[in-house]
Amino acid sequence: MRTLDWDAATASLKMIDQRRLPEKLEIVALTTPAQVAEAIRNMTVRGAPAIGAAAAFGLALAAQSSPAGDAGALLLDLEAAARSLGASRPTAVNLAWALGRVLDRMRSYSGPVDEMRAAVLAEACRIADEDVAINKRMGDHGAALLADGDTIIHHCNTGALAVVDWGTALGVIRTAHAQGKRLHVLVDETRPRLQGARLTAWELEQYGIPYEIISDDMAGHFLQTGQVQKVLFGGDRVAANGDVANKIGTYMLALAAHDSLIPVYAVVPTSTVDLALAHGGLIPIEQRDPQEVLDIQLHGERVVPEGARARNPAFDVTPARLLNAIVTENGIVYPPFEVNLPKNVHAG
Ligand code: MRU
Repeated sequence: MRTLDWDAATASLKMIDQRRLPEKLEIVALTTPAQVAEAIRNMTVRGAPAIGAAAAFGLALAAQSSPAGDAGALLLDLEAAARSLGASRPTAVNLAWALGRVLDRMRSYSGPVDEMRAAVLAEACRIADEDVAINKRMGDHGAALLADGDTIIHHCNTGALAVVDWGTALGVIRTAHAQGKRLHVLVDETRPRLQGARLTAWELEQYGIPYEIISDDMAGHFLQTGQVQKVLFGGDRVAANGDVANKIGTYMLALAAHDSLIPVYAVVPTSTVDLALAHGGLIPIEQRDPQEVLDIQLHGERVVPEGARARNPAFDVTPARLLNAIVTENGIVYPPFEVNLPKNVHAG
């Protein structure tokens, strides 16, 4: 099944509850935009393209429950829902992108209000369907960068669970694997939420792609000792100059890879590129509950002392100079990114 999908029979948004994996594959059904905003905030659904598509379906739920009697009133209700959905997580620009796309279509709508309700849902479904096709195209472009026999370090989860289906960086690995290339993935566990250890490993088990989990602090060692040929990750927001905000730890990984002359590739749909931001220093970085860092247990025992405090920035920014290329659905972008990235985005 897709990570999230509209269920016409119950008029609800169904999604895999990613907090329960890998122990349990549980599907939840959401019926209000407030539930969707909360699911994004608490990471029931996560990954930049997935939360964008979820937010679009959140607007479909808002349209469904709105009592508005005409298009103008419905638009006001949609705008209010978009404000609360858009505030659920700040870093991934896909959220604002998807909400903006639906609202823009509806602003130019003039017709019966019930048809407008259906049009909101149709646009959300289009965003979801296009996401799958875009991931497959990124997979085709990116697979050319991987060679038979490569060992790849991969950060966070960028697979089917981070999108509607297939994946961004992990989608590239899946495509290359399907082409018959023998690959081995070193999966960064990705502290503190363990998206690598819990989600990427769960996906790779199903795809039959060989992998081993490493703790994040082991990456430098594997890179320095020549045991890795490529580093791949996704992105939550890419600035116009190619700086990439992605899951915390990406910057250190890219730095170590750069120092060891190992190629670093970011794989992002153009909906993750924010050409309005000149550089990565302008990207808002989400600060999450420090408890996520403190909740470490060993044999069921709490590890940190009572009263310990923590910090928990959820993302960091990898400067464009550390990247060898950025893969989008429109092809492979090489430096200088400030020239070639806008061209690639507009090529779509
Ligand atoms: O906090 P998360 O799990 O939503 O962070 C996700 C990532 O950082 C991914 O690498 C990113 O969204 C790109 S994957 C499509």
